[in-house]
Amino acid sequence: MSQKTMILTDPDTGRSLELPVRESTIGPPALEVSSLYREFGIFTYDPGFLSTASCTSRITYIDGEQGILRYRGYPIEELAAKTSFLEVAYLLLYGDLPSETQLTTFEDSISRHSMINESLKRFFDGFHYDAHPMAMLIGVVGSLSAFYHDHFESHENITQEQRELVAHRLIAKMPTIAAAAYKHNLGEPFIYPRRDLRYVANFLNMMFATPCERYRISPLAERAMNLLFILHADHEQNASTSTVRLAASSGANPYACIAAGITSLWGPAHGGANEEVLKMLGEIGTVDRIDQYIAKVKDKSFRLAGFGHRVYKNYDPRAKIIRDVCHRVLEELADGSNPQFELALRLEEIALKDEYFLERKLYPNVDFYSGIIYRALGIPINMFTAMFAIARTVGWVAHWIELTTDPEYRIGRPRQRYVGEPLRQIRPIRQR
Ligand code: CMC
Repeated sequence: MSQKTMILTDPDTGRSLELPVRESTIGPPALEVSSLYREFGIFTYDPGFLSTASCTSRITYIDGEQGILRYRGYPIEELAAKTSFLEVAYLLLYGDLPSETQLTTFEDSISRHSMINESLKRFFDGFHYDAHPMAMLIGVVGSLSAFYHDHFESHENITQEQRELVAHRLIAKMPTIAAAAYKHNLGEPFIYPRRDLRYVANFLNMMFATPCERYRISPLAERAMNLLFILHADHEQNASTSTVRLAASSGANPYACIAAGITSLWGPAHGGANEEVLKMLGEIGTVDRIDQYIAKVKDKSFRLAGFGHRVYKNYDPRAKIIRDVCHRVLEELADGSNPQFELALRLEEIALKDEYFLERKLYPNVDFYSGIIYRALGIPINMFTAMFAIARTVGWVAHWIELTTDPEYRIGRPRQRYVGEPLRQIRPIRQR
């Protein structure tokens, strides 16, 4: 079958350029424009990448119009119902769900790498007691690059085993670092990881146990968190993943690249939204004040946190799953009563009937309900985005591996439309 092309014609010269259309397995194909500048001396311009594919990937597929999300071809709903977070991590990293033996070996490796170097632990002493956990995560994860810096002079030198080691270390150490950040805020001693506990249970233990008190791990909390981690594990070329890819494209140390991803995730338009939702619900306070806030949205003085998405123009499939889990978690924990959840449900109901939201296809996203569950499980608000970061580390490292093994990989170097001064001359300082 011949390759489909599209023809672009320069109206000034009448010259035409045939551009190849690169097919996808599913989803829109991509018009390859890499020869455009060379042939026509013109750039494409697409702020925010509304129509630009930055890479080729086999990891995650999203259809925003239909509200579909799949990891390596598996629907998110099935993964959420039938797998554990580490099974999903294996799937994202290696492309297939693990066999029993593969999973046991993988789980063993992750738990073996969960401790952090004692010197790295001391880095926390440099942070003020009330430093935001995300600020500590950026600093401490970035500092892993000072401990593991062999083999990273260029991507060509790294072996598959070394790539795997990076991935396993990061997935293993993120919960330890995040829990340590929380303990630092509290002024409590850090709790070492335990190899006899599963991934999420171990994290909960590091968060809530103390040297003088054992922590009883609630199976409900473990199940709910496992599910939230699955839903947050990857989301193709979002801002933080693209940041990791761009940082890594120069051949930079992967631990430092993940710190760059954490930085991008922290923003309120991205992973920081889960923290913003709870603050927003606190600010709105009661159902009778919702209309007032909807009016503010319309006059553009307010944005509903946890609403809207660049890709989803339908209900975010992750939000649907989380809303159901929210019901179950709250029922088991507090007979279903939770004023913030009730407020959120009402806000959703009102917004989804409103012309403003309908016209713009604004629906609740994954973060609209996740914070309510985390809060019910005892996770403090300023840790919400750190929870997201633990889960998304899996996606980041999967994309890092994909980038560094992609034969088409080149350093990322966008172009620009320059609209500044064309040429100026320096006047002596006394004349300026
Ligand atoms: N509340 C009110 N209006 C909104 C919202 C919102 N949350 N989001 C978008 N709009 C309006 C926006 O004002 C604009 O209206 P108009 O056409 O009149 O100018 C229109 O919808 C399109 O918005 P946009 O800013 O061009 O959309 P975008 O694709 O650039 O931004 C977004 C996507 C997620 C940054 C944005 O919807 C937003 O700021 N949402 C709130 C933050 C949030 O919940 N982020 C979490 C995203 S999901 C988790 C993750 O993966 O990170």
